[in-house]
Amino acid sequence: MKLLVVGGAGYIGSHTVRQLRAAGHEVVVLDNLTGGHAQALPADVACVRGDLLDAEAVRTVLEAHRPDAIIHFAALIEVGESMGAPGRYYCNNVVGSLNLLDAIVQTRVVPLVFSSTAAVYGTTDNVPIPEDAPLHPESVYGETKLMTERMIQAFHAAHALPFVVLRYFNVCGAAPGGEIGEDHTNKTHLIELACLTALGQREKMMIFGDDYPTPDGTCIRDYVHVQDLADAHVLAVEALERGQMSAATYNVGLGHGFSVREVLGAVDAVIAEEGLPPLPREIAPRRAGDPPRLVADARRIVEDLGFQPQFTDLKEIVRTAWEWHRSHPHGFEG
Ligand code: UFG
Repeated sequence: MKLLVVGGAGYIGSHTVRQLRAAGHEVVVLDNLTGGHAQALPADVACVRGDLLDAEAVRTVLEAHRPDAIIHFAALIEVGESMGAPGRYYCNNVVGSLNLLDAIVQTRVVPLVFSSTAAVYGTTDNVPIPEDAPLHPESVYGETKLMTERMIQAFHAAHALPFVVLRYFNVCGAAPGGEIGEDHTNKTHLIELACLTALGQREKMMIFGDDYPTPDGTCIRDYVHVQDLADAHVLAVEALERGQMSAATYNVGLGHGFSVREVLGAVDAVIAEEGLPPLPREIAPRRAGDPPRLVADARRIVEDLGFQPQFTDLKEIVRTAWEWHRSHPHGFEG
């Protein structure tokens, strides 16, 4: 198949481009390169620099490349930032996605895989969280993803747009080999920060709250490896191409969680293999908006698409992240 990967130069997008190519698909990337990195893409993948807010440019790309299917990653992704800059988030994530949907209808309706998030659920006691749990996003970021899901459903109803929505839990790790990995402008993710602390770029790790109602008092999350997540996109787009389904929403996670302390323990174990001391850490107040426990009910994607995560061992997951950060201490630019 020929795939257009929108936002393909980002963290999850670039891992998906690799997995699509490994599965024998042809790939064209559309990316504005504000959050993504051209260096994250194989040299022989065509990368068109363009922004979803430029409706004319989006239509031109679709007409020029005539993809068989589209995977849409392009978005602003920071929960905290979205609360202070709602206009930017609604414009970029919702208007940008609307331009893409309009362009699809104006050129040729082809299957769409959309990158959504567990943030659409908000805080819930219903853990592990099934796809049909109530949707109450607590951030502007989560709201923009839910609005886009709803636009996609409306385009499905009106224009027979086939789609799969993937709701990611905590994405982490890097492709084994350390060639590409996580490199966001603002670093907020637990494993990335822990690796940068091990490299001496941060003084210590803060544990945001140790008084949660969990076994060790710290928050529990479902950490899914970015390469497994990339494989989920390949499975989704291939299932759409086969006509196996025309409208589906899946959680992507392992279906079990790890606490902040367990994650930091795994990082300690990995860096100890190189003789590094345990990470300095300090208990800090709870971070606003962090639910105690977010774990996916991931059975639907396993049953429907045969999703089979390869990275289920926390230490192995952390090791891939560490390999990337150790070999690229300043990310792609370094
Ligand atoms: N944490 C710390 N110290 C840190 C960083 C994080 O204790 O320095 C804790 C957080 O409080 C949280 C856990 O580690 O309990 C994981 O935090 P991350 O920032 O790595 O990830 P989040 O769970 O906040 O966010 C993820 C995705 C978001 C998505 C959200 C859905 O990154 O895009 O899940 O709930 F919106």
